[in-house]
Amino acid sequence: MRANASALFRATFGVAPRAAASAPGRVNLIGEHTDYNGGPVLPVACAARTFVAVGPAEPGVLEMISTRDGRVVRTDYREGQPAGWGAYVAGVMRELVALGAAPADGGARLAVASDVPVAAGLASSAALTVATAKALSLLAGVGLRPRQLAGVAFRAEHDHVGVRCGIMDQMSAALARPGRALLLECASLAARHIPVGGRLLLVDSGLRRELAAGSLNERRAECEAAVARLKLELPELRWLASWPAAWLPRLKRALPEPLRSRALHVVGETARARFGAQLLGRGHLKRFGELLYESHESCRRLYECSSPELDTIVAAARRAGALGARLTGAGWGGAVLVLLGTVEASSGKRATKVVAEIQRAFHSGYGREPPITVVRPSGGVRRERVV
Ligand code: GLA
Repeated sequence: MRANASALFRATFGVAPRAAASAPGRVNLIGEHTDYNGGPVLPVACAARTFVAVGPAEPGVLEMISTRDGRVVRTDYREGQPAGWGAYVAGVMRELVALGAAPADGGARLAVASDVPVAAGLASSAALTVATAKALSLLAGVGLRPRQLAGVAFRAEHDHVGVRCGIMDQMSAALARPGRALLLECASLAARHIPVGGRLLLVDSGLRRELAAGSLNERRAECEAAVARLKLELPELRWLASWPAAWLPRLKRALPEPLRSRALHVVGETARARFGAQLLGRGHLKRFGELLYESHESCRRLYECSSPELDTIVAAARRAGALGARLTGAGWGGAVLVLLGTVEASSGKRATKVVAEIQRAFHSGYGREPPITVVRPSGGVRRERVV
């Protein structure tokens, strides 16, 4: 992929790129729909990455190509929003200009190569924006810290593209470490790296959803409406995730449906994610796995962000004896994370049984076998050699 981005750059623009960078997709272990509610998340970066090779262009001009669509998009990012993935790149460029970290003449050529699947719940947009921010800042000769890159990438997606996401995906793409999960408290942005002892599988339902299509924005509006009402009970409340877990009866009385269910998910998921991070850190995988099942149930019933395909996979994993399983990412399609146990204990029979049962159940419901891969927790954004 690294070579692909550089090679595509040369083949398209007839010159060598000047800088290159890459950033990973992510698989969230637990803490779903908590980030934009000021709660904790626990993602790992996956091995799939997005590579971006860059070089200079005329002032104000972006010329971009990706291995996925293979045609050059040319746009003046000062004038309007390009369609499709170019909007994310334009957002990054505008944010870098605002920071004084854009290439001197303000234009750039980019070639993108990626094996992060799009709209599969693996944060492909954050891999693109974080890698782009790093590559363009290198071209500008400005060293931005990983948290600054995450900020640029977040504002590109949130403010420019208009997806009302939280900060999890960009922070994971920027800060992740190999073999570790990132416990990120999204209100304070305090981060800790936690060793991942378990063996993880990812089952792709094949169902794709575009976040910009609205479900995420709708849920976020519901959470904001819940906070507005709960402020009558607790005026200093800023984040839904900060509602005291001991006050659930009061929360239930104060909110009508569906706000009640959404808020119950967020408060419960906040407690699960914090407890889950402790359990994972201490190697208590069995109890951690139970929390994953509980989290899925809460996403399904209270947050209503699951789908029959995802539920089929989770139920099959449970029947076959997996320690835990849940949808990962925004939901409404995408992928399921399965926890098998320690790497040593789960290499053999149990893994084979879980995989076979998931494939059997999915095939009998949907007539095809879902792709299943091993998740290898990887490192965050990095500079790449230009080849
Ligand atoms: C999407 C958003 C994230 C987060 C998840 C749900 O991936 O981009 O910020 O809200 O959904 O946990």
